[in-house]
Amino acid sequence: MTELWQIDPREADSRHPVIQAAAALLRAGKQVAFPTETVYGLGADAGNTEAVDGIFRAKGRPSDNPLIVHIADRSQLEGLVGPLDETSLRLMDAFWPGPLTLVLPVRPGAVSERVTAGLATVAVRMPDHPVALALIAAAGCPVAAPSANRSGRPSPTRAAHVLGDLGGRVAAIVDGGPTGVGIESTVAELAADGGVQVLRPGGVSLEALRRAVPGVPVTAAAEWPGGGADPAAAAAALPGERASAALRPGAGAPELHAPRSPGMKYAHYAPRGRLTVVRAALPARLMSWIDQDISQAQAAGERTGVLARSERAALYRADVVVSLGADGDAQEVARGLYDALRRFDEAGATYILAEALEEDGLGAAVMNRLRKAAAGRVIDLDAE
Ligand code: TXA
Ligand code: MG
Repeated sequence: MTELWQIDPREADSRHPVIQAAAALLRAGKQVAFPTETVYGLGADAGNTEAVDGIFRAKGRPSDNPLIVHIADRSQLEGLVGPLDETSLRLMDAFWPGPLTLVLPVRPGAVSERVTAGLATVAVRMPDHPVALALIAAAGCPVAAPSANRSGRPSPTRAAHVLGDLGGRVAAIVDGGPTGVGIESTVAELAADGGVQVLRPGGVSLEALRRAVPGVPVTAAAEWPGGGADPAAAAAALPGERASAALRPGAGAPELHAPRSPGMKYAHYAPRGRLTVVRAALPARLMSWIDQDISQAQAAGERTGVLARSERAALYRADVVVSLGADGDAQEVARGLYDALRRFDEAGATYILAEALEEDGLGAAVMNRLRKAAAGRVIDLDAE
């Protein structure tokens, strides 16, 4: 039995009956899904190993992938992490509450070892969502929460996604409406040289981080261009028919890196259909290439999908076209991306093309997720 409770985020405070009921479940060691500004999280008391175990069981998540601890107030950091450096404090000032997760030295025994997967660090963030903040405050404990999807599914941006994935497996879902950012938080760690290393791109862009800590080097951890658990397998999956036959640089040769963020080594969500990302500087070129490729795929019996910007969406003749944002509006693409991927599956699409985005600002994080969903298949028409 999973309780489904609705709440208007504008009415969320610690005394709200829905918040009270959800907080009581968390205190009793249960798992509760709740909205954050990025995606829905599946929360449990971070200090309660039984409760945290329940998260891994409900999601079917590998136990060596640590969880993010969510706090509602900076005072909760005291019991959680060791002394803080100047750069981390400046990043908190700039982005909390908000979609930035900081990997910090954990205070021994502060959270269950299941949360940190035995690492000497703990990932912490303060979500910018009134429901999340009220719930964490009412629970009175730091709340460990991964995204509230079954492992291997896209992160949920609506309560209905959570219900579909975890209905019957968690105590309650607090429905606060669709989330705003749509992709997960940026995970960053202070490097040994005093610089900031981004382990996972997300809701806070590299550019925004650099502006917040001028003079401090901010770098992105090398990402496997092929995405997924096994770079060799991702590369082997590249050759194929149609779109992939025209594979160009841009997908690049997979390189091996030991992932600093354990979650980066796991295969990410890929739609059931074969997804390829297509890039071209000229919209007309992009449009005509996709149009032609989709026609060929249809002639070959594929059920086709296109993920497009609004300027061109109406012109595509694919079986399923999802329009997300205008050219240059990465925010809108991020907000609807995971819902779109779920829709292609529901529609039974077997062959999907996605228009690429400029990789600046939030576009970098969206392209990171798209590349993973496409197992590294990116066609750059300008490189022909
Ligand atoms: O926006 C978000 O971050 C959402 C919402 C619910 O807050 N949460 C989320 O959690 O995306 P999850 O579990 O799906 O992703 C957590 C990421 C994983 O890649 C994990 O490996 C990394 O954070 N992580 C957690 N603890 C870490 C640590 N101590 N060191 C390095 N990476 C860590
Ligand atoms: Mg996740």
